[in-house]
Amino acid sequence: MSGFPKDFYWGGATADFQYEGGFNEGNRGLLSHDYETDGSMEHPRHHTMKLADGTIKNYRSSFFYADQILEDATPVFLDNEYYPSHQAVDFYHHYKEDIKLMADMGFNIYRFSICWSRIYPLGDEEEPNQEGIAFYRDVFEELKKYNIEPMVTICHDEMPMHLALKYNGWSNRHLIDAYVKYAETLFKEFGSYCHYWLTFNEINAVRGFGPCGTRESDGYTRYLADHNMFVASAKTVILGHKYNLENKFGAMYAMSGLYPRTCKPEDMLQSQLARRENWYFIDTMLRGYYHPYAKSIWQHHGFETLEISEEDKKTLYDGQLDFCSFSYYRTNTTQAGDKWFNVGGDNPYLEKTPWGWGVDPLGLRYVLNEIYDRIQKSVFVVENGMGAIDEPDENDYVEDDYRIQYLNDHFKAMRDAITIDGVDCFGYTMWAPIDLVSLSTGEMKKRYGFVYVDMDDKGRGTLKRTPKKSFYWMKHVIETNGNDLE
Ligand code: BG6
Repeated sequence: MSGFPKDFYWGGATADFQYEGGFNEGNRGLLSHDYETDGSMEHPRHHTMKLADGTIKNYRSSFFYADQILEDATPVFLDNEYYPSHQAVDFYHHYKEDIKLMADMGFNIYRFSICWSRIYPLGDEEEPNQEGIAFYRDVFEELKKYNIEPMVTICHDEMPMHLALKYNGWSNRHLIDAYVKYAETLFKEFGSYCHYWLTFNEINAVRGFGPCGTRESDGYTRYLADHNMFVASAKTVILGHKYNLENKFGAMYAMSGLYPRTCKPEDMLQSQLARRENWYFIDTMLRGYYHPYAKSIWQHHGFETLEISEEDKKTLYDGQLDFCSFSYYRTNTTQAGDKWFNVGGDNPYLEKTPWGWGVDPLGLRYVLNEIYDRIQKSVFVVENGMGAIDEPDENDYVEDDYRIQYLNDHFKAMRDAITIDGVDCFGYTMWAPIDLVSLSTGEMKKRYGFVYVDMDDKGRGTLKRTPKKSFYWMKHVIETNGNDLE
């Protein structure tokens, strides 16, 4: 084979609370993220809460970092804060225009997340919200009009607020039933449109109140919550296969590459052991059982063991995922003595984005090989892209040659993994085709899109969409199925 497979999927990916907006429309319930402020590299985002005595307290809870939340703290909206999820970039009212732009680029797949609390506003009521179902039905219809295959993330780092407050989120097994019921509603309502489903986004990175709804941030609570998510995912896979054998399931893993900082044996070993923090999730969900090294991970996080029932073991085995999908943005390095889950680590050989993420196209080939060698199920790159500061001209046009270069180099690495190394990779969805709000910082100026959205960090702007130079470049890539890269 000389290039990408002929039926390769090319598209883009988004998440509801960063993109959709309409937080108080269509009878949508509240999500934990609705209480998360904007931020920056210097000023981390926080959830605003009130204690029983009326004191306002800010908590951090996203992306690898989670504060312990006091028992009497309840989320509150403050007038002097800006909450990016409320409007996001308003896909809720722009979906026809945005999907047309995706179609104009030639997308044959679009990955998006359904907002749990738009379908079940509280998370555990008897009947789903018909207005939410109607909204997503329109989205699916629009995709169908352009022959764009949907790929749905059932839960993208989010938690209906009621489930967090009432049950302490994923630390409670009640969430398994609530999630499976929600997923079943999606199969019933949208099963004729959609066959690719991702059960959870970046399940190896989520923790704490924001994404998991738990007040505690200790190791035991985190891994207990993960276990409950594993079981919920497996039950959903079993059910989804019963609904339709054509349904294919993945989840999403944050798979930054990890290199030892030097070839010193201690650093090599550190890198191998630290990588298990990622394999733990992939092995359990794609092989269907906890590997013996799981115990060492638990101990590393301060507890002896998790009690796993025989019934759960069977569920995990029967509910293995069909393919391995992951995000790849960068590589990190680690050395002896670092924490196992090390998300930093300078690499002198790499350039960095303004947000300090090392740009490493070859690392994508490295990670594709790593995963496929180990799991030997098809893989899908469901997120990759470059967050950059764009400078539009007076017509809002952006000449984003840096983004084109980034994507071009990553596509070549992906092509080589497929054609030279033999990796069975069947698609790529770029993060994020239309500019949207950054998850880690809540900023708008960290832009990823092929399409510029006129909006600033505080949500001010016309929301007008304007294709960037990379839009036309990507259109050509898809037209030529990636066979005319630089
Ligand atoms: C992934 C998430 O981790 O990275 C997305 O699934 C997120 O939700 C993306 O937006 C990029 O991260 P950031 O912080 O630059 O938005």
